[in-house]
Amino acid sequence: MPAPQAIALLKDYLEQRRLAGETHVKVTPEALAKLPQVVRRPLALPELPPEAPPPPPPPAVVAPEPVRRILSVSGATKEEKLAALRAMAEKSPTARGLGTLRDEMVFAVGNPDARLMLIGEAPGAEEERQREPFVGPAGQKLTQILKAMGLERDAVYISNICKFRPAMEDQGSKNRAPTPEEMNACLPYVLTEIDIIRPEVIVALGGTAATGLGFEGSVTRLRGSFREMDGAPVMITFHPSYLLREERMGTGTTAKRQVWEDMLQVMEKLGLPISEKQRGYFRQG
Ligand code: URA
Repeated sequence: MPAPQAIALLKDYLEQRRLAGETHVKVTPEALAKLPQVVRRPLALPELPPEAPPPPPPPAVVAPEPVRRILSVSGATKEEKLAALRAMAEKSPTARGLGTLRDEMVFAVGNPDARLMLIGEAPGAEEERQREPFVGPAGQKLTQILKAMGLERDAVYISNICKFRPAMEDQGSKNRAPTPEEMNACLPYVLTEIDIIRPEVIVALGGTAATGLGFEGSVTRLRGSFREMDGAPVMITFHPSYLLREERMGTGTTAKRQVWEDMLQVMEKLGLPISEKQRGYFRQG
């Protein structure tokens, strides 16, 4: 297989594992030994003169601890408080000061009185265009999941752990996951949203959102039962983009069933009616 194709496949595979919530992959010593050949082959680098000794490494940069702070916002109603918070986030000196996020802010959408709040990772191209979270392909998948639960989008509150689309070189329609610094910069706004809305259940969509909220480990390990955050039950489940990728590869059923099992637990926790049909969506036989 030509090296660029092999590298593209490898990147795709690693992105899929990341969406599945994994932070490490096992590589055998044999594969590791082959990797430099694959990566170097197309570059055909000319012979270089002997190198000067490398400069001393820069001092280690330690990512600052996330600030788990609830901001004080003005307003008498939830709507007014959310509007004030949105205006604060829009100007966020911490987020904007990073210089790695795009200008357009995508705050959140939904019902301030929602009993269910869903938190994704960051807006993508379509979300940035429409200035609304989860309106692209992953959003359509999320809307389907909510429908299957008997919920309309406007009954819930949908937000992201990072309020700006992470910037990339030659961005076009490309998206990337937010870094810990980018998520930390937005964390006080998300925690304040939770404090204003006071949802009965929070769903974290994917490993990035879970990490940003302070949960360590892969989605595979974290999903399936409720976690707790400042007194609120949190269900961590796979990101809808992961379901889309799995579907494209023809291996989507297990992840879909697992997300549905998680959502049944969410419905139970909220006391929503669950029909036999809903309970049996993925039942064998
Ligand atoms: N993926 C996310 O995590 N959030 C969005 O808003 C869109 C896609």
